[in-house]
Amino acid sequence: MWLDCDVGHDDAMALILAASSPHLKLLGVSSVYGNSSVENTTANAIRVIQAAGIKGVKVYKGAAKPLVKNRVYASDIHGSSGLDGTDLLPDPDMSTYLAQDENAVNAMHRTIMASPEPVSLAAVGPLTNIALLLSIYPEVIPRIKTLAIMGGSMGIGNTTSAAEFNIYSDPEAAHIVLHSGISHIALVPLDVTHTVLATKQIIKRIQDEVAVPKFARLITDLLLYFGSTYKDVFGEKEGAPLHDPVAVAYLFMRNVFTERHIRIDIDCNEGHGRGRTFCDVYKKTMEPANCWLVTSVELEPFWNQMFRRQEIANSSGPSVASGSSAISNPTINNGQQIDSSLIIGNPLGEDGGVASPESQGGGDVFANVVGGSFTEVNSNSANKDNIVANSHTTTFNGDSGETVNGDLNNIGDSQQVVTFRRRLMDRRDNVPNSGMNSGGAAFSF
Ligand code: BDR
Ligand code: CA
Repeated sequence: MWLDCDVGHDDAMALILAASSPHLKLLGVSSVYGNSSVENTTANAIRVIQAAGIKGVKVYKGAAKPLVKNRVYASDIHGSSGLDGTDLLPDPDMSTYLAQDENAVNAMHRTIMASPEPVSLAAVGPLTNIALLLSIYPEVIPRIKTLAIMGGSMGIGNTTSAAEFNIYSDPEAAHIVLHSGISHIALVPLDVTHTVLATKQIIKRIQDEVAVPKFARLITDLLLYFGSTYKDVFGEKEGAPLHDPVAVAYLFMRNVFTERHIRIDIDCNEGHGRGRTFCDVYKKTMEPANCWLVTSVELEPFWNQMFRRQEIANSSGPSVASGSSAISNPTINNGQQIDSSLIIGNPLGEDGGVASPESQGGGDVFANVVGGSFTEVNSNSANKDNIVANSHTTTFNGDSGETVNGDLNNIGDSQQVVTFRRRLMDRRDNVPNSGMNSGGAAFSF
């Protein structure tokens, strides 16, 4: 998938979710003006990527202004930087993470055309980049699998009484996108995202469940700031609506959404209605449907994904990157066995997969196991120096015959590993508990 965003507090969460979900492969990130200037939103995307330890993803700078009218920024909600409220974000490393020679539109075009599979997009800022992409390179249209948009409203707006911010920012772009002929467009409107509130209870869960304290503080700093501006501007007392990750979640957990396939048009006129999304639920226009309008999302599965992903996000990149001969992010398919003498990082287990680092020399690191359904995880080094660390997967739930074999006596004592051990011990009474011995493998938390 590709993420087009104007980072932004909720965009930051969307980026973390997109980069670390085992169900998605994030091919690239494009920035657009919106919550702040495109210079700021580009830098913010990079700062979040660095803070979350996301590897192998570049940021491509996009549009600085809408197609036709003047831009608006949302500094009342997101602060003057677009991502105010924490001192934990690093300075942006532009030379590493910003694509120097290619803009957002060309990068999306290149990526979509080069992909052997159709590519999904999540657009969580003004739709200017996407409209330009579809206008300049219409050949991408049949190659787009799903376009999930955070934007619009069935009811009242948040920027004018009629219009939501992303659509209001560039209604002409939204019109182009909605009438482009992309076969699957989903609109996640305010009416839905306003049910996804980062309440006090949610923030407490993040503090309790996100294993790296600094990362938990970064997330909660951002959510608390976002909540405080929502309270000041909108009188919303319960917490900030986490708009943008809901559109990303739609791409991989559509089963927890309700939706209707309807006609949606954009008001591009001057006046009070500009930027309004006309949702023709009762088919009054008799025009063909062009969009899946999301009408609700189940909260518990959504938040469970957010927490898992936030926890993994902060550890996966660096831990894999530090090893030589690392195999990162493999998908282990049904019946397949992957052997490695060094590191397997972030394997995604598919049905019946078996992951077995089989080093003779020891020093295996088998880290950040994510995903659903390994039947077995073996860590059988001859000198018993393996580590199975930081794994969050149903593999270990012990309730359907899965096994975790090998050298769990070498689970280390870093914060991440302790978290894993506690979880594992909750589930298996007999897991031994001893100190860290990485056997020389490169590994860092
Ligand atoms: C949308 O506007 C922005 O401020 C948020 O990031 C979100 O994409 C909500 O109206
Ligand atoms: Ca946004």
